[in-house]
Amino acid sequence: MSQRVVLAYSGGLDTSVAIGWIAQETGKEVVAVAVDVGQGGEDLDVIRQRALECGAVEAYVADARDEFADEYCLPALRTDALYMGIYPLVSALSRPVIVKHLVAAARLHGADTVAHGCTGKGNDQVRFEVGIGALAPDLTCIAPVRDYAMTRDKAIEFAERENLPIDVNKKSPYSIDQNVWGRAVETGFLEDIWNGPIEDVYSYTQNPADPKPADEVVITFEQGVPVALDGKPVTMLEAIEALNVRAGAHGVGRIDMVEDRLVGIKSREVYEAPGAMALIAAHSELVNVTVERDMARFAGSVRQRWAELVYDGLWFSPLKRALDGYIDDLNAPVSGEIRLVLQGGRAVVSGRRSAESLYDFHLATYDTGDTFDQSLAKGFIDLWGLPSKLAAKRDQRNG
Ligand code: ARG
Repeated sequence: MSQRVVLAYSGGLDTSVAIGWIAQETGKEVVAVAVDVGQGGEDLDVIRQRALECGAVEAYVADARDEFADEYCLPALRTDALYMGIYPLVSALSRPVIVKHLVAAARLHGADTVAHGCTGKGNDQVRFEVGIGALAPDLTCIAPVRDYAMTRDKAIEFAERENLPIDVNKKSPYSIDQNVWGRAVETGFLEDIWNGPIEDVYSYTQNPADPKPADEVVITFEQGVPVALDGKPVTMLEAIEALNVRAGAHGVGRIDMVEDRLVGIKSREVYEAPGAMALIAAHSELVNVTVERDMARFAGSVRQRWAELVYDGLWFSPLKRALDGYIDDLNAPVSGEIRLVLQGGRAVVSGRRSAESLYDFHLATYDTGDTFDQSLAKGFIDLWGLPSKLAAKRDQRNG
């Protein structure tokens, strides 16, 4: 068997042309792999067939929807991970699961090389190649767009010359990446960061300004895992899908931001992640109710670092793994129910209920039934403020 290249295949122009282009450049056979992470859109059997018609020796589709939800989206939810405090890591989370399937395919088909369709300017090239290096350090990575200067014009020329079964005019004005956790849209008129996104940009969410009666949903968590919606048991995948529809109908989870890419560029991205943002709103509030104060405060730094590592392509890294251990401990008591109101672009918590709750009505109340001994507060304040009092006295003495 001649050496082979496994290509991460999307069915679009770039990766379709890449099949023949890689074969030409390397003299190797190309195996196309499409990974279903809930991106929807075109039927994946059609995509598979297209890969074969474009010259792939083998093509297959891996259904990774549940795996992606359970092993990638769920850890992000249990961390309440938001890059720069805003972005729920939509694309960043899907790369490691795609990498796993590419490596498995490379082993199965005796490939020594893995190829992807990324440019040389983004984060995703880093995520693919660092991920592959971490799982299979013996494999070589290539990126035709970046390494063989496969520009869009040249790709169209190639497709027409080789008579490839792709509609070269079907070009979206945006660059879009989507999966069940959300959708990322960039380029086109959005590159002028003063331009506001038009409704056309969105597909997972409806206009939050449309007047609509509010929706109310109760999410049940067990140790940080969403297990039921309105009392009906759900898998993680079902929870995200259902909330994408319900929160999406109210325009929840639209994000417009300028973000710091790993390669040093600031870029403008528009995201929509209705299910993810509704779940994070609910989960983070249940953390507030059930997690001891210092554990909860420290989670803030863990959350930020975790998001940076995942954004920066270090999913399979020792620090990320270690932080996952903290997140497991954090979520041990995170069981109970959160009620969310979905309306006008927001998912707002309106109720919490948990057997693990640390909220004690009798300590918190200002009404009768108060068990908090207020006389203890005075001594506590004297000692708590002692260091600053001593320092202030010294400063006074020194003028
Ligand atoms: N900037 C985001 C990230 O690095 C999304 C990139 C996805 N690509 C796209 N074509 N919008 O995670």
